[in-house]
Amino acid sequence: MIKNRQNPRPELFAHRIIDWQQQHGRHGLPWQGADVYRIWLSEIMLQQTQVVTVTPYFLRFVARFPTIAALAADSQEAVLAHWSGLGYYSRARNLHRTAQLIMQRHEGTFPQQFEDILALPGIGRSTAAAISAFAFHERCAILDGNVKRLLARYHAIEGYTGEKKIEAQLWQQAEALLPKRDVAIYTQGLMDLGALICTRSKPQCPLCPLQTDCAAYQNNQVAQLPTPRPRKVLPERHSTFLLLLNGADILLEKRPGSGIWGGLWCPPQVDSKLLSKVEDAGAYCLQHFGTETKYTLALSTFTHTFTHFKLHITPLLLQVTNKPKKIQEPGRVWMKVDDALQAAIPTPVRKLLQEIQAGRGVK
Ligand code: ADE
Repeated sequence: MIKNRQNPRPELFAHRIIDWQQQHGRHGLPWQGADVYRIWLSEIMLQQTQVVTVTPYFLRFVARFPTIAALAADSQEAVLAHWSGLGYYSRARNLHRTAQLIMQRHEGTFPQQFEDILALPGIGRSTAAAISAFAFHERCAILDGNVKRLLARYHAIEGYTGEKKIEAQLWQQAEALLPKRDVAIYTQGLMDLGALICTRSKPQCPLCPLQTDCAAYQNNQVAQLPTPRPRKVLPERHSTFLLLLNGADILLEKRPGSGIWGGLWCPPQVDSKLLSKVEDAGAYCLQHFGTETKYTLALSTFTHTFTHFKLHITPLLLQVTNKPKKIQEPGRVWMKVDDALQAAIPTPVRKLLQEIQAGRGVK
């Protein structure tokens, strides 16, 4: 029985991955073989998001912002609108900031040195390595979530892969297994194998080129590895979304630049504890927005899970009877629901607006 062990034959590992990638890996993805801007953009979009989801966003994004200069010159609002629905919006804010930084500090050219890439906002060690490998054919090791899983299985490494000690062990293996040549194909192969074969559930071991010396497979430990994240109870918050409607218009507020949904448009939100009865919403709106409302309708509460907490959202529909002529506060607008659906809004707000547009819940 093979237990946890060090590299048996590193050259063979890379060789098998490269061979497999060429025959069975993904080819023709719109960022493959493209310029470094498109490679960088794809790597940021592909953090925590799958290829099928990313592809249409990527194509729309590069059609609107074809170069780093074009991205830097456009507004954060436009960038967020093109990211709307992909989630993890700090990625989009960093991307925009980084484009501006590249214009100012690197004369508009994406840096080529690994250390300079790593120093850019929103780019960690694995992403910097992927960009270096794909764009500049540098010998740099990646270690994203899929590769952590693959290596934890291949070497039968037990322990949560997010833990520092285990992560350090995995980085060491990732470095040791790097081939001398064909790093771009190898890197793509690792990603493809992690996404298509060595999947979290129902891995396709009979199709895996590493099966014969995968320690987890030999030990019959594939289902147990990688060791799951220790379960932690997420804190919960309750928020009421005030959907103030005036005909085809809805009141939206721009969220502060950083933090949850930073820079995105949302309906006004109130801690649900402050509105113990649905009827209190009318008084709240009069006090805060100077609007009188005709009736309120509570829609079903639903839950949106963030990395660090769960948000229980209760949407309240309020029909406005006197829309104030001018909104005093900057960052607060009445927007046509149709226009809002094209703007930078988070996914749960998009779903609510689509419901409103379809006339569900609004009489
Ligand atoms: N995930 C992260 N980067 C990727 C890439 N370049 N191709 C496919 N999946 C990926």
